[in-house]
Amino acid sequence: MCGIFGVVNDKQASQTLLRGLKALEYRGYDSAGIATIQNGDLGCRRAPGKLLNLEAIVQQLPLEGLTGIAHTRWATHGKPNEANAHPHLSLNVAVVHNGIIENADFLRTQLSAAGVQFVGETDTEVLPHLIANYLQADLCPALAIQQALKEVKGTFALGILIKGMEDQIIATRRGSPLVVGFNAESAFIASDMIATSGMADEILYLEEDDIAIVKADSVHIIDAQGTPVFRDKVSVDHNQFIATKSGYDHYMFKEILEQPEALTRTWEGLASTSLNQVEEMDFAKLDRLQIIACGTSYYAGLVAKYWFERMANLIVEVDLASEFRYREPPMPSNGGCLFISQSGETADTLAALRFAKSKHQYCLSVVNAPQSSIARESDFVYRTLCGPEIGVASTKAFTSQLAVLFDLVKQAAKQRNAGQHIIQELGDTPEMDVINAVQQALNKANKIESIVRFFDDATSAIFLGRGQCYPIALEGALKLKEISYIHAEGYAAGELKHGPIALIDENMPVVVIAPYDRLFEKTVSNLQEVRARGAKVILISDKLGCEICKEYADCFIEMPTLHETLAPFVYSIAVQLLSYFTAVQRGTDVDQPRNLAKSVTVE
Ligand code: F6R
Repeated sequence: MCGIFGVVNDKQASQTLLRGLKALEYRGYDSAGIATIQNGDLGCRRAPGKLLNLEAIVQQLPLEGLTGIAHTRWATHGKPNEANAHPHLSLNVAVVHNGIIENADFLRTQLSAAGVQFVGETDTEVLPHLIANYLQADLCPALAIQQALKEVKGTFALGILIKGMEDQIIATRRGSPLVVGFNAESAFIASDMIATSGMADEILYLEEDDIAIVKADSVHIIDAQGTPVFRDKVSVDHNQFIATKSGYDHYMFKEILEQPEALTRTWEGLASTSLNQVEEMDFAKLDRLQIIACGTSYYAGLVAKYWFERMANLIVEVDLASEFRYREPPMPSNGGCLFISQSGETADTLAALRFAKSKHQYCLSVVNAPQSSIARESDFVYRTLCGPEIGVASTKAFTSQLAVLFDLVKQAAKQRNAGQHIIQELGDTPEMDVINAVQQALNKANKIESIVRFFDDATSAIFLGRGQCYPIALEGALKLKEISYIHAEGYAAGELKHGPIALIDENMPVVVIAPYDRLFEKTVSNLQEVRARGAKVILISDKLGCEICKEYADCFIEMPTLHETLAPFVYSIAVQLLSYFTAVQRGTDVDQPRNLAKSVTVE
């Protein structure tokens, strides 16, 4: 949700700023802008739409200067037009902002009354004016900013340039992430260390309300009390973030194909990559586990609920972070909470984690970003090692989350002495079985591509599943709507007749996810109910399931056969590919679908 970047002392500052923004475009692509200081004066270029538009403007009207700040926007307040693009400027201050200023209307009214003329509608625009007021009061920049921010409610990561101060950026954060990076000549600020890749050799993370004066050869940080503080620097592994399309048309397709490798890495690395090991979670002590996440990560949590309950005899509640944090649920003393977030920065999940910690819960998290806020604030962290996921719609991060969760369930089953018959049925190498089956599922890509014609005229689609494939139906529907813009809903197959069946007619494709398992016959009954009402049925099942349903479906996607517990891994691949090819067929922007951003750092 918005990305900020900055560089101090770089002869090619404008180009470096554009390069940093390119890496942050996953955080929003509604507009982009840069500002630099040259001969003491602030200069700015901004453009609505994707970064390409800004690049064209900077090429026509270059911006000189060695120091600058940059922004890529996911619109919260105000349309994605040029006036609302960051940086926002007053006469002597330029600001880029990630977050939301909740009392912006109040501040706007006050500043307007004092004569400030606003040009756009964003919440951010109050900040340069507010800071300018405190600078006029003859405070040094860091204190002026600190005083100004005392008036601000909300979340922010800010990069600030002050007229006449060519050798520095002032950076601060509250609730939104911000790193500061260094190499021998220059310094950088960024919302995500990925943007400093290939540039910074060392980075440090700012803590809440730190104010950092970032210069090429030094960083001076004061904390919320105004006390100078030191934050540890860590070296950057430059190979960690290399992500290219490797000749594929889209990152998303490449990332779908990478799943066997991502699963292998995640499972192989689990023992060696857990972080903050305060003490291992003892599932035997728990009466109940609370899982909290958003979006696709929430669906991974729902799959885990089925697994934990059946295999580890552990009651699990799964909550959307945005609901959990305000519901103020009673929490058992010394209870356990599990947070799932690929970015590790999702604002609602982070707030839910902080709430759980305030209630003395033991907080475990599953993240793909080891330096993220959620990772840093959890008691115990498991990493998914799927590598950077650039496509906005999550694919390999989801199945890697499932991989970690499956491992945790096995650990819980052992500690609780439960589910041993299932563990035995799974055999010695369930992970290898999954990896092989996922590869076989990927080999069906051509077949899946050939059936997207069923969505040609569709404006809506339904996904059905039962048991642990119900969350996969939800995930399939989410993937389809995210990237193809076809309205889609996932339902528990048994729930359809309680209302949604009214939607069924011959224009409605229905994707039925039904491995041949304990629940197969029940799901097939639901399949027949929709078929009888004219729906086009796409059945995703295994060999036996497809054979039995020969008569009942309009087309089949045959998945490899494996133990029903492991089905979510392979059926995820089928729904990802189905959504991907449908979106390609529709000509949408697969990697950067409209209105979305990969890291949702606002509520
Ligand atoms: C959908 C998708 C989102 C995220 C959600 C949570 O494809 O990726 O629904 O799962 O925004 O993000 P994280 O996992 O970063 O907390």
